[in-house]
Amino acid sequence: MADNTVVSVTREGDIAWVEIDNPPVNATSTAVRAGLARAVTEVQGARVAILTCAGRTFVAGGDMSEFDRPAEEPHLPDVVQMLEDSATPFIAAMHGTVLGGGFEIAMGCTWRIAAEGTKFGLPEVNVGLIPGAGGTQRAPRLLGMQAAIDMACSGKFLDAVKMEKLGGIDKIAAGDLKAAAREFTQALPQRPAKVRDRTVKALDVEAYAETEAALRKRAKGQKSPLLNLEALQWAALPFSEGQPKERALHLELRQSAESKALRYAFFAERVVSKPKAIEGVAPRDVEHLAIVGGGLMGAGIAMACLSGGLSVTLIERDPESAAAARDRVAGLIDGGVKRGKISEAKKADMLARLVTTDSYSDAASADLAIEAVFEDLEVKRGVFAQLAQVMSEDAILATNTSYLDPTLIFEGISNPSRCLGLHFFSPAHVMKLLEIVKTPDTSAEVLATGFALGKRLRKVSVLSGICDGFIGNRMLAAYRREAEYLLADGALPHEVDAAMRAQGLPMGPFELQDLTGLQIAWANRKRQAATRPPEERYERIADTLCEMGRLGQRSGEGWYRYAEGARTPQRDEEVERLIERYSAERGITRRSYTPQQIADRLLAVLANEGARIVQEGIAERPEDVDMVQLHGYGFPRWRGGPMHLAEMQGWENIMKTMRLVAEESPNSWVLADPAKATATC
Ligand code: NAI
Repeated sequence: MADNTVVSVTREGDIAWVEIDNPPVNATSTAVRAGLARAVTEVQGARVAILTCAGRTFVAGGDMSEFDRPAEEPHLPDVVQMLEDSATPFIAAMHGTVLGGGFEIAMGCTWRIAAEGTKFGLPEVNVGLIPGAGGTQRAPRLLGMQAAIDMACSGKFLDAVKMEKLGGIDKIAAGDLKAAAREFTQALPQRPAKVRDRTVKALDVEAYAETEAALRKRAKGQKSPLLNLEALQWAALPFSEGQPKERALHLELRQSAESKALRYAFFAERVVSKPKAIEGVAPRDVEHLAIVGGGLMGAGIAMACLSGGLSVTLIERDPESAAAARDRVAGLIDGGVKRGKISEAKKADMLARLVTTDSYSDAASADLAIEAVFEDLEVKRGVFAQLAQVMSEDAILATNTSYLDPTLIFEGISNPSRCLGLHFFSPAHVMKLLEIVKTPDTSAEVLATGFALGKRLRKVSVLSGICDGFIGNRMLAAYRREAEYLLADGALPHEVDAAMRAQGLPMGPFELQDLTGLQIAWANRKRQAATRPPEERYERIADTLCEMGRLGQRSGEGWYRYAEGARTPQRDEEVERLIERYSAERGITRRSYTPQQIADRLLAVLANEGARIVQEGIAERPEDVDMVQLHGYGFPRWRGGPMHLAEMQGWENIMKTMRLVAEESPNSWVLADPAKATATC
């Protein structure tokens, strides 16, 4: 049914104004499509129609909540064609972000004008789709094949200036958009050929192969960039052939596992940023932040905070360390300048907001302090004792610890409701994940402030309770443990790594350890030794490598060998023989594993640990677990995360594999009850 409130038509002399008003982003819901179809009929007789949107943006995409259902009439391709065929020509007058269905609608209009700063995109690729209303067929005809590839295959946004250069829009409106549209109608150019009647050549075989190879490399197993490339080539066919092919593939992809996972990730990101624990709670304002420890993490956190517009006081042990910390942050800022991400003016502004010091009293006026000193309980306790002395009684105190128990760190601090964990990932100014760790004392207001800070720093914040390693590192430990059991039982490091890369992970567990260094996990295993159940299987291969000084890439060798200064892992006979000898000494008859068996076991372990984390209330929901994996550990977004994947593959299958894993290593695994860990997205 047409809904007159969502799309309205008004007359102004011989001009018909059509306005879409479907907050928040004017998505092309069924009501909008029906309203537009009706509007095309209603504007007939007018000399020209102007299509605009209310609110902060032109149509910024489809309504993803409709994608799980069969497509409802009127279908967008038909509506776009109605606009294109309308006897009264349409002008799209656009502002904000013109995305997906919005850009398809715009391409159906006769002329396009845009406010300064408007951005255009075909981001369907990011949710595992191709456009479904002529986007892949009209964009190459309107903009040329290369620009269409950038938009549809890479999800790149083009700004109004670029769009005008490409001939995609007729005018950039300086000042008031409606006034500019009205002015445009006063001297209408000759009506151009419909976009769908124009012609474009497909890429030749060589260019296609080259583009495909580049996309494949970046896609890491995701199919939609390649499918978009294929669909764009159909633009060389008559529109009446290409367009139905595009539509059919679009509808098919809505049901695909990849698209479902990507849509799930999109919604999950929004869900995790609003945990139940802070529902209805207003955050406090944070403008001035103190960071103690300006090493690798502290400098990265400072960089993230300065980028987010905060004032930062960075405290180090002595004047020399403070100067070194300042150099470290300045180096990160310079890196941004070199990459064109930070202007000279912004750099000066950021540096002006940074104070480096060795005096705690400089933190006195800070609203919040984050500690990022050595991973040592006594050192951290000392830091908070000093902060508590100089800061106000309700200033928020946060620790960036990876493994220590925050309740022990904060023991004895007055007003413990102001204490929490803010666990950043390295490099802290790049990695999206922020684990926000709640102690039994943390107040909801303090937690909410942590989430507000995360948002300001453009992080994906996930709430975690306290357990060894919190959500992410606890899962990593389980994953590594099974990976090492596999080595002892018959696999080799490169086989395990290749099996996980084939699942879309950027790296396997052993390459990753080599990259980050083996010593932190080694220290943890030593720390955990006292509390590890004696019956649990413990393999010493990694410990042996550490004892040999093979600490990873930086030491030149770890699980692999590295040529001088190189980062490419090379298989190392010495390690492989060591593993085989180790199995023999342990009396294990080595067996072989297929890549699928390796991947199944490791993914089952991840899902099982994730489900236990939810069951224990460490995470509120499976979505939290998945977002930690996506944004902190490189789990492929197009697979949604280990919990979503388990849901899709059926938990009964995952638990069947998990029982096998548990049988192979008795007394080493606690099986989850997945029924207690189901997703809400
Ligand atoms: P780091 O060794 O690079 O930096 C620590 C810094 O703290 C040094 O610059 C040191 O001079 C300073 N420091 C030590 N004691 C101090 C004191 N009493 N007052 C002021 N400054 C002091 O260590 P990194 O890697 O930056 O780690 C810091 C913390 O962040 C640790 O708790 C670690 O577990 C955690 N973390 C580390 C991650 C990583 O990937 N390295 C990831 C997430 C958390």
